[in-house]
Amino acid sequence: MRAEVFAAAVLFALAAIGCKKSEPPTAGARELFTNACARCHGADGSGGVPAFEGGPAPRDFRDHDFQRARTDEQLKMTIRNGKGSGMPPFGASFTDAELAALVAQIRSFDSERK
Ligand code: HEC
Repeated sequence: MRAEVFAAAVLFALAAIGCKKSEPPTAGARELFTNACARCHGADGSGGVPAFEGGPAPRDFRDHDFQRARTDEQLKMTIRNGKGSGMPPFGASFTDAELAALVAQIRSFDSERK
């Protein structure tokens, strides 16, 4: 009996881990992105508009090579610390859960997302 409960718990945990990657971002994630990021990154993540004249343009989040070149942790660090002269540091504005949601939202733009 105990072993069965344990096995069920393990299966449940594995299923939860397995689902994590392909889970679509929540509605809250899109809202966060739209409110805080879309004016520079575009609602569809395509970027392209520099934050100020002559500044660096945000890259296209639909680019699969870019997605592959960054870990979730790197994306979170950039959101916290900013990047170059164009990407503002958001510091502690977001909770860990919100940062994770933003990363999921960025991942969802990947054109070759499975
Ligand atoms: C004021 C405009 C602006 C806002 C607002 C903004 N960004 Fe950016 N972001 C930029 C620019 C410009 C870059 C490119 C910086 C560079 O490469 O020098 C960038 C870069 C990035 C990168 C790094 C890509 C890489 O090369 O690793 C990530 C991730 C990112 N932004 C996420 C976000 C998220 C998430 C938000 C909202 C919470 C956000 N940005 C809000 C302008 C902005």
